[in-house]
Amino acid sequence: MSTEQTEVVRPTAEATGSAATRAFRENAPREATGSVSAARVSAIARDVLARIHAAIREHDVTYPEYQAAKQWLIEVGEAGEWPIFLDVFVESVVEQVHNAERVGTKGSILGPYYLAGQKAFAGRCTLPMRPNEQGTPLVFEGQVKGTGGEPVAGAVLDVWQADANGYYSGFAPDIPDGNLRGAVTTGSDGRFEISTIQPAPYEIPKDGPTGKLLAVADWHAWRPAHLHLIVRGSGYSNITTQLYFAGGPWLDNDVASATKPELILAPKRDEGGNLRVTYDFVLDPA
Ligand code: DHB
Ligand code: FE
Repeated sequence: MSTEQTEVVRPTAEATGSAATRAFRENAPREATGSVSAARVSAIARDVLARIHAAIREHDVTYPEYQAAKQWLIEVGEAGEWPIFLDVFVESVVEQVHNAERVGTKGSILGPYYLAGQKAFAGRCTLPMRPNEQGTPLVFEGQVKGTGGEPVAGAVLDVWQADANGYYSGFAPDIPDGNLRGAVTTGSDGRFEISTIQPAPYEIPKDGPTGKLLAVADWHAWRPAHLHLIVRGSGYSNITTQLYFAGGPWLDNDVASATKPELILAPKRDEGGNLRVTYDFVLDPA
């Protein structure tokens, strides 16, 4: 691997946001939307509005404040940042409600940077990466099992992650399409071994409306380093999750509130300084 350092181009919030909005629209028919009954829309919308009204009364919200909020909401949409804002500040609770009864591997949020249709690999593989990909090499291996302990042959691990600068391919300039993404199929023993690099923590783009809110509220914008996965097995319930790294920053104060103790990896370093870790997934029955 070359040590040549290329200059990193920081993506603008607007470019990242509009790419995230486009990705949501493209994924939505497959992954994100279901049919929602009029009765549910009515009940939930009524309740959300009632809680906004209560906050306005509680804080004696003024007209300038109302107009500033309206302006900000318009800007979030114009910058395409609704996927980023919602997945950071809302999705974790939807995930907790959705996966409350699950007994296998814990879930975590999907986030805005999933792209379907990535390159397919057999159980032992190296994720697509640039010849000079920065970051500590990481081998992530394990087995996909059912709740009865049986191996799941032909399970597919859809994996995606940020690079060593915290950026995702498809959402930042100068990263080739499909970089650090793949769909890995387990062998007859349910096993996989994925070679990749250690991702960096992720920071929400700071130069857009979401970043503006974080700045005025004096909140940090960071998520701990993580691998994203959707694990699918025929006859099993899919799990969308993330795996984190012990000892890294932001584990205890993830801006997206999406960490769980069961999802923290503790890779060991080999003599060459490379990282290796084993993690088994347990899929609930469909
Ligand atoms: C967001 C980004 C992520 O990488 C992630 O895992 C979850 C949320 C976001 O910016 O909304
Ligand atoms: Fe992420």
